Amino acid sequence: MGFGRLLLQLVLVGALIAPATAQAKPGCLHLCGNVKIPYPFGMQGCSLNEDFLITCKKTDSKPPQRQAFMGTSNIEVTNITIDGELQIKSWASQSCHNASTGEEDPIKSLLTLSNFTVSSSKNKFTVVGCDSYAYLRGFRQGKPYSAGCMSTCDSLDYVYNKSCAGSGCCQIEIPDGLYSVNVTARSFNNHTGILDFSPCTYAFIVEDEKFNFSSQYLKNIPQDKFPVILEWSIDNTTNKEASRRFSSACGHNATSYRPDNVPGYRCRCEEGYDGNPYLGCQDIDECNKGLHNCSHQCINLDGSYKCTCPKGYTEDGRNDGQRCTPHHFPYIILALGVSIGFLVLLVAISWIFLFIRQRRLKELKEKFFQKNGGLILQQKLSMQHEIPDIFKIFTAEELKEATNNYDDSTIVGRGGFGTVYKGILADNREVAIKKSIQVDESQKEQFINEVVVLCQIKHKNVVRLLGCCLETEVPLLVYEFITNGTLFKHVHGRNASDFSWETRLKIAAETAGALSYLHSETSVPIVHRDVKTANILLDANYTAKVSDFGASRLVPLDEMQLSTIVQGTLGYLDPEYMRTSQLTEKSDVYSFGVVLVELLTGRKALCFDGPEEEKNLAMHFLSSIKGGKLFEILQKHIVNKGNKEQVKEVAQLAKRCLCLNGEERPSMKEVATELEGLHMIKMHPWVEVSTEETEYLLAREESFTSGHGNGCIASSAGFDSIKDHLVVSVGGGR
Ligand SMILES: *[C@@H]1O[C@H](CO)[C@@H](O)[C@H](O)[C@H]1NC(C)=O
Ligand SMILES: *[C@@H]1O[C@H](CO)[C@@H](O)[C@H](O)[C@H]1NC(C)=O
Ligand SMILES: *[C@@H]1O[C@H](CO)[C@@H](O)[C@H](O)[C@H]1NC(C)=O
Ligand SMILES: *[C@@H]1O[C@H](CO)[C@@H](O)[C@H](O)[C@H]1NC(C)=O
Ligand SMILES: *[C@@H]1O[C@H](CO)[C@@H](O)[C@H](O)[C@H]1NC(C)=O
Ligand SMILES: *[C@@H]1O[C@H](CO)[C@@H](O)[C@H](O)[C@H]1NC(C)=O
Ligand SMILES: *[C@@H]1O[C@H](CO)[C@@H](O)[C@H](O)[C@H]1NC(C)=O
Ligand SMILES: *[C@@H]1O[C@H](CO)[C@@H](O)[C@H](O)[C@H]1NC(C)=O
Ligand SMILES: *[C@@H]1O[C@H](CO)[C@@H](O)[C@H](O)[C@H]1NC(C)=O
Ligand SMILES: *[C@@H]1O[C@H](CO)[C@@H](O)[C@H](O)[C@H]1NC(C)=O
Repeated sequence: MGFGRLLLQLVLVGALIAPATAQAKPGCLHLCGNVKIPYPFGMQGCSLNEDFLITCKKTDSKPPQRQAFMGTSNIEVTNITIDGELQIKSWASQSCHNASTGEEDPIKSLLTLSNFTVSSSKNKFTVVGCDSYAYLRGFRQGKPYSAGCMSTCDSLDYVYNKSCAGSGCCQIEIPDGLYSVNVTARSFNNHTGILDFSPCTYAFIVEDEKFNFSSQYLKNIPQDKFPVILEWSIDNTTNKEASRRFSSACGHNATSYRPDNVPGYRCRCEEGYDGNPYLGCQDIDECNKGLHNCSHQCINLDGSYKCTCPKGYTEDGRNDGQRCTPHHFPYIILALGVSIGFLVLLVAISWIFLFIRQRRLKELKEKFFQKNGGLILQQKLSMQHEIPDIFKIFTAEELKEATNNYDDSTIVGRGGFGTVYKGILADNREVAIKKSIQVDESQKEQFINEVVVLCQIKHKNVVRLLGCCLETEVPLLVYEFITNGTLFKHVHGRNASDFSWETRLKIAAETAGALSYLHSETSVPIVHRDVKTANILLDANYTAKVSDFGASRLVPLDEMQLSTIVQGTLGYLDPEYMRTSQLTEKSDVYSFGVVLVELLTGRKALCFDGPEEEKNLAMHFLSSIKGGKLFEILQKHIVNKGNKEQVKEVAQLAKRCLCLNGEERPSMKEVATELEGLHMIKMHPWVEVSTEETEYLLAREESFTSGHGNGCIASSAGFDSIKDHLVVSVGGGR
């Protein structure tokens, strides 16, 4: 039984001992009755110092209750807050008439409050009575302070409930920082004459709102204790503290501060901590106490907390207005990345495209090169030593550059077989670049053969082939550039009259020499096929250069006659060749005959202006000779006294060249020799023509003008003799 009670008491005491989170010092009671006692307050041994000592006493009431008292005094403590307030219940000071003695009772007339400061804002000094005054005495900032309040009334007539304006009740403010307060109640006349309704004077300090004056209280006040709010702080002015070096009473995570109007200091927890700052503050677990505004997840930190956001979200601003917003998508970086990527892709694509294009171009070039017989040509070039060094296979680029990309301004001629451009090579050589006819796959070898043969032609009166380019669809031939234009231009141009007979004869001789060379002195006989004034070029010295072998055909040695499609220029075309399509060297002879006639007459090979019979120059010329009208048809200024015979001779030669039957025409070699002879005579007048020769020439003229036969057979005999003679003569002259 006894043991059971002890156990119960222990359990009860245990419950009163401060748990870890309580405000009392560990191991100390934290409650006295209903009053919580936070440190620095405490029972004996548990308080910070004597100032904060609390005595817990049992009341005499039944059942007994515990009451807390300030130190050893009789001031009851009813509430202690950690932030510096203390509620006590203090006795009212009274002065009552003792009927038996007729004097005032002095016992309860004086009240000494604690050393703590009386809260000025929360208390009022109140005096109740009708013959009363009271003192309020204390200290402010170490100096004595006193104030008084008085209340009188002769009857209850003018005493109003809740009114403390000095009649029945007097109330005044309490000044700041007042401590060690004594309240003294007094009467003026020992309440004489008013004992029936106001026998006493009551003076007290009371918490605002906790006392409402009523007229009834004049006779008897129902309570003898009134609540008062004190402000407590830790006083470092005491000797004990001053003797030591000041050390804060604040615990960890707490700071001290000076409260307004209160001496000493207090402690408070730092932000983010709570608990008893005098014992040490604990971190507030904001996350678990719901003290956070995190929208997603809260993480408690020592003294604070932080919000985290789910992946892909970011905190919006400060740590308080926590809102998770989706990550600012890095548009700039994305845009940059995308554009850089795009650029790289573009560059890569264009590179690939360019690469493919270049490869295609290269392939195309190679294809053309092969199609145009480039390989065969290369083979031939490497094999044949007689091919001159100047011959070169040009690249497409070189020629493109030379002609400024085939600019129209560089065109110097357009013929039936292609366009001729003037080009300037990298080494400043002027060349004529001819876009040749298209080469069929089947004709490839033949084309190359022609190129090979043509490039070997090394004759001063033949335009030199310098090279070719096979990388283009249409093969390009590169010739030396002849400056003075075509013979056609000179014969039929505006200044034709300045074009002397001597020059004409020289050109005729040179042309004939060139053709003769082509027919008989090259490795393979070459038929030009398009001999005409337009294809005879002149250089600055009026030296003839036979050009345009576009239509030329090599005549294989074993077959002297070549069957081909009829090609050539009307007016110059061999009528026999036209009829039979059998190409022989004599076709060139016929064409050369027309050239001779052109030189003689200054007329064009085909003339559409005149009458029908004069349309074809060759026919017209032949018929004129037949009719003995040679001198009528000749160009006016050509003939003079000195050269009449020579002109006749040339005309005779032309006539023979124009024989319808190819067999009857002289060979080119014969023509050349004869013309050279005539030219030599002119050049070297000292080479005397023997009278025999002259006679012969005259005789020939007679036979010529008489026009027996077709003139072809008769003339050939004469030609041979003159040829032989002249060769001898010239040889001697040199
Ligand atoms: C103590 O005082 C505080 C602040 O004035 C108040 O909140 C609390 O309720 C009081 N406690 C008691 C037991 O009266
Ligand atoms: C009046 O005074 C006498 C003598 O001091 C005392 O015994 C008595 O109790 C007093 N009466 C009152 C009401 O206080
Ligand atoms: C009031 O009481 C005191 C003694 O306490 C006495 O000395 C005084 O004369 C009295 N005054 C009157 C007016 O009765
Ligand atoms: C007030 O302070 C003095 C000394 O500072 C002390 O002796 C006294 O006991 C204190 N009074 C109370 C009520 O605490
Ligand atoms: C208050 O009363 C006490 C005790 O009578 C006294 O020692 C003290 O000096 C008084 N205080 C004042 C301010 O009068
Ligand atoms: C004051 O109030 C009480 C009741 O609370 C009442 O009996 C009394 O007559 C009132 N006095 C005045 C002056 O109104
Ligand atoms: C005093 O009166 C006010 C308003 O009339 C009321 O709120 C308050 O509770 C009263 N105080 C007491 C102690 O009765
Ligand atoms: C008391 O404390 C305050 C602030 O805490 C300080 O300024 C003052 O100097 C201290 N006084 C003494 C005597 O230590
Ligand atoms: C709070 O107190 C603890 C214990 O003394 C300490 O480790 C911690 O650093 C303190 N926090 C701050 C913010 O001072
Ligand atoms: C939460 O947000 C509200 C409104 O913004 C603010 O009033 C409150 O103080 C915040 N609470 C915390 C713990 O930050």
